[in-house]
Amino acid sequence: MNQTVFEKADRYIADLLAPEDEALKATTQSLRDAGIGDMSVSANQGKLLQVLAMACNARHILEIGTFAGYSTIWLARILPQGGKVVTLEFDETYAALAQNNINNAGLADKVEIRIGKALELLPLLKEEMVVPYDMIFIDADKPPYAEYFELAVKMSRPGTIIVADNVIRNGKVLDENSDDERVRGVQRLNRLLSGYSGITATILQTVGVKEYDGMAIAVVNYPL
Ligand code: SAH
Ligand code: DHB
Ligand code: MG
Repeated sequence: MNQTVFEKADRYIADLLAPEDEALKATTQSLRDAGIGDMSVSANQGKLLQVLAMACNARHILEIGTFAGYSTIWLARILPQGGKVVTLEFDETYAALAQNNINNAGLADKVEIRIGKALELLPLLKEEMVVPYDMIFIDADKPPYAEYFELAVKMSRPGTIIVADNVIRNGKVLDENSDDERVRGVQRLNRLLSGYSGITATILQTVGVKEYDGMAIAVVNYPL
């Protein structure tokens, strides 16, 4: 087994179950055109987000870390009439790129991009929250991942699915002495999940066209 077969199998799955349409391809192309390295989830990971969003009947979705809007588009696409993705991004260039890609996908009415630092925006969102979020996707800077998770739980209902991307980091999480603040951030989240009462969680390793990594997937059991 090696990276080549993982990539080929990833493409095989994507061809069958997660083919990209023009709007998704244009989103990836918009990053190439701007000379920005791609940090988006893969097509199959986008489809996984859709499957999870449907499993919790998602109508209100919160995303932390918009980038070019690639994952946002996957999520927004399965929303019912009147559903919304609120997505947080602190880089104005990325936010503008994402808005363009989302408009191009015909999803402008289903997505609201908030520009700012997630740790500042999240308490505001909690204040203005009318109903809890059904699904929350954490995919921004890694050092405050545990704080993002704690805030996410406070904005959840029983049955809310919380997903956090990049929690294995090419296996670097195995290094207990890592001085990489991103590794330390996700290690802190992974340990937090391990002892969290009221949460049922797992970590799914992700291999394929992106770097070897993992997604933490948690379901909230009861209000905390
Ligand atoms: N979810 C996207 C990828 C997100 S990449 C996708 O799969 O398509 C991570 C993004 O988080 C980057 O765009 C980065 O600018 C943003 N980000 C980093 N730190 C942040 C912060 N403190 N608040 C809000 N966004 C942040
Ligand atoms: C980075 C961030 C991500 O969310 C990701 O999926 C890949 C890379 C990064 O910060 O480099
Ligand atoms: Mg990510």
